[in-house]
Amino acid sequence: MPDNKNSADAVQSSEKTRDQYETYPYPARDPEDEDKRLISGSPGNWDEVVHYIFGGRDPSAQTKSGKIKILVAGGGTGDALVMLAQQARDRKAKADIIYIDLSESSREIAEARIKRRNLEKNVTFVTGSFVDLASEYGPFDYIDCCGVLHHLPDPDAGLRALADALKPNGGMGLMVYGELGRQGVYHMQEMMERLNAEAGGARRLHFGKALFNSLPGTNWLKRNPFVGDHIHGGDAGFYDLLLHQQDRAYRVDEVFDFVEKAGLRLQSFIEPMRYDPTTYCSRHDVLEKAVHVPFRERSALAELMAGNITKHIFYVVKAKNKIKAPVPDEDTIPFFNRVDGPTLARSVAKSGNIKITFTGLSVTRTMPAASPAILSRIDGKRSIRQIYEMFDPRPEKFEFNAQFAVMYSVLNAANLMYLRYPKKK
Ligand SMILES: C[S@@+](CC[C@H](N)C(=O)[O-])C[C@H]1O[C@@H](n2cnc3c(N)ncnc32)[C@H](O)[C@@H]1O
Repeated sequence: MPDNKNSADAVQSSEKTRDQYETYPYPARDPEDEDKRLISGSPGNWDEVVHYIFGGRDPSAQTKSGKIKILVAGGGTGDALVMLAQQARDRKAKADIIYIDLSESSREIAEARIKRRNLEKNVTFVTGSFVDLASEYGPFDYIDCCGVLHHLPDPDAGLRALADALKPNGGMGLMVYGELGRQGVYHMQEMMERLNAEAGGARRLHFGKALFNSLPGTNWLKRNPFVGDHIHGGDAGFYDLLLHQQDRAYRVDEVFDFVEKAGLRLQSFIEPMRYDPTTYCSRHDVLEKAVHVPFRERSALAELMAGNITKHIFYVVKAKNKIKAPVPDEDTIPFFNRVDGPTLARSVAKSGNIKITFTGLSVTRTMPAASPAILSRIDGKRSIRQIYEMFDPRPEKFEFNAQFAVMYSVLNAANLMYLRYPKKK
């Protein structure tokens, strides 16, 4: 009996989720905007995926056909889909991409965006639940599932289904909500429940807005500057943030448990720096206790210190897969992410440091003296050895390597620089 009730509840909540995204496809997107800009971010940034999941090596080299297979699970209105398909084309990578979503109206927008960019050739659209369908279309080299698992009635079963559809050397880019940075969101959802608010659609939205507008300035949501979808994301954003009826958030420890239960291993959070206590605290007496502990402990502590983590973005591989992100060695090729190299080189030359800002917090890091000279020689093609050989006179190699390593650790932790190995000829 209880099992029947649980599965009936699960069906009902999946239906509510589907109905919500049928009425309010999320995020709100206009296909015509594809002519103006490419929306990009994490997870799903191609270079990030290669760095963290494939150890800096070309993923297509590990498949017989030279083609890689990608799943966008819960693809919504298409942000990750469009980004991945466009990145594949820009890199002349052969990729088959499968999009699965419950919502027809979200799919229509995603399809129109893909058409607008003439990217439809290698994309397959599927309407349904990836929990049931992922394995049928797999196995995949990369699975992107952003902002979806926390809306499933059983997120563990959802992640297991994705893990089952992954190739042994494949990996996933995931995003689930972070509990601490979403202070006030669940208060609002609880108020809606206690008030027995409208069940769905425009009436629920209308009621939710009236409630939100009536709240005093002391309310936690009103005081939380780290969430903004209810203000900037239109009706779909308001609904998705505050009126969802199937929604949970995770603390760092829960993220690790979630991943490990599915037979997976967490490679890195994005940005890694946000999960490092040294980002928030410089007192030696505190750090002495905070840094000599396992990755999980450090990350959990950093989350508590920061308070502004609204979402956890992270890359996972199968637990048995021992792949590591590349570290600087002579053959690796450094390249920039999200930042213009020459501009960064000039600014570091001027100030001697770099200022990094995320979700309301700015952190300044001193950069090694050789950074501007190194940064200005990074072009995404030269290896670290070639960069060293460009110096005249050449510094001591150990000194160059040490300065490179420090500079790289700052930039990589801020998600501004990656490494890759040259393609095999
Ligand atoms: C918050 S939106 C995120 C959309 C997209 N991943 C993004 O980041 O822009 C969640 C999406 O997941 C979809 N979804 C929820 N449960 C699903 C399931 N079991 N199978 C397929 N799609 C699902 C919803 O229809 C919705 O489009």
